Amino acid sequence: MKLTIIGTGYVGLVTGTCFAEVGHQVICVDNNEEKVKLLKSGGMPIYEPGLEELVKKNVEAGRLKFTSSTKEGVEESDVIFIAVPTPPQPDGSVDLSFIEGVSREIAAAMTSYKIVVDKSTVPVKTGEKVSETIKRYCKAKVDFDVVSNPEFLREGFAVDDFMKPDRVVIGVLSQRPVAAMREVYEPYNAPIIFTDINSAELIKHAANSFLALKISYINAVSVICEASGANVQEVANGMGMDIRIGRRFLDASLGFGGSCFPKDLSAFIQISEQLGYDFRLLKEVQRINSEQMDRFVKKITETLWVLKGKKIGVLGLAFKQNTDDVRMSPAIDLCLRLQKEGATLRVHDPKAMEKARSVLENVTYVDDMNEVAEGCDALIVATEWPQFKKLDLERVRKSLTHPIMFDGRNLFDAKEMEQLGFIYKSIGR
Ligand code: UDX
Repeated sequence: MKLTIIGTGYVGLVTGTCFAEVGHQVICVDNNEEKVKLLKSGGMPIYEPGLEELVKKNVEAGRLKFTSSTKEGVEESDVIFIAVPTPPQPDGSVDLSFIEGVSREIAAAMTSYKIVVDKSTVPVKTGEKVSETIKRYCKAKVDFDVVSNPEFLREGFAVDDFMKPDRVVIGVLSQRPVAAMREVYEPYNAPIIFTDINSAELIKHAANSFLALKISYINAVSVICEASGANVQEVANGMGMDIRIGRRFLDASLGFGGSCFPKDLSAFIQISEQLGYDFRLLKEVQRINSEQMDRFVKKITETLWVLKGKKIGVLGLAFKQNTDDVRMSPAIDLCLRLQKEGATLRVHDPKAMEKARSVLENVTYVDDMNEVAEGCDALIVATEWPQFKKLDLERVRKSLTHPIMFDGRNLFDAKEMEQLGFIYKSIGR
């Protein structure tokens, strides 16, 4: 099929590439000329495991191309996907101006029937607005259908998640776009569920909020574990063996972050309020998350006492493993708080140092993870990169002025760390 994706961020670029990979003919559109130029010359604007190779392969096969012209994208395809950012606003609601702008551009370029699919995460009832907008701005007065097709991929695992989705959700208002949408997703062999548009939009917010709730739940349990001497990982393992609960997203941490969970929670709370419901449960999820960070900082200050003049090593800047994304990263938040208290920092991240430089200044960026601890009063693990488990712990212990480690991701075994001579503090154990 001929498909156009508007927006080449984490979702748009992965979507376009993975559509091309199964044989569709794809045009990716972005209004950022620099980004289009970079992609055309074989460069990558983001780090996502496996993506670069797939882009290269599909460009060479002639199935994937890039342009900054929405008009070209709309003319050449029958199905147009919108994958532009929906950033948060100060009051927690979502800024839908990119969605509105793109809807107008699509409308202006339409000269025949099109299926316009929203992939960006949007509050319920946005599809109705997109439909009204296209109707208003389409001079040619041609037929079209708006479809909601929320994306559930995780950064760091995006290609895999896209190629092997648990389910594909497609919200429609009529039968007309159903066959085409089925054809788009047929090659993935995944269950497809068709709903109305409002339900599809809600599924995304409800799913992400539930996952955030799961993390806050285990983080709250971690507090009880610390107070009672239990081990949160053992509790999570035991809980997770109940298939109704499941083990995933039960890893206690210094809190969740990223461009989705915090934003989607706020947006869901906000839209619920507009629809007349005070979603107190989700407000509590947010509160537990920010308290989790407060508690971690307190753990550090209780041990090191005065942070002014202390040198601290930090492993991890990305909001989670396998990504270079530092948006709403708990690790960056932590660094800024430690800096504010007067600590000087030596930091390392396997992929996110370049992006971190614009939000985290006056720190020493260290290329080798084993050198971060050098001359530091303590070392902190802030992101769950699996390679941190391979730290040369003996060397790290010797290079610290005091062998103190704060593990915000429970990467190490507490007993082993103590045997190695560390004063080791983690979450809920
Ligand atoms: C999330 C959803 O998982 C995905 O389905 C949706 O499409 C976009 O939002 P993402 O933000 O890429 O994906 O990351 P995810 O892997 O869900 O992690 C989010 C945050 O939760 C990270 O900061 C991570 O470190 C944290 N987390 C995750 C925990 O603290 N504990 C866990 O058990 C799992």
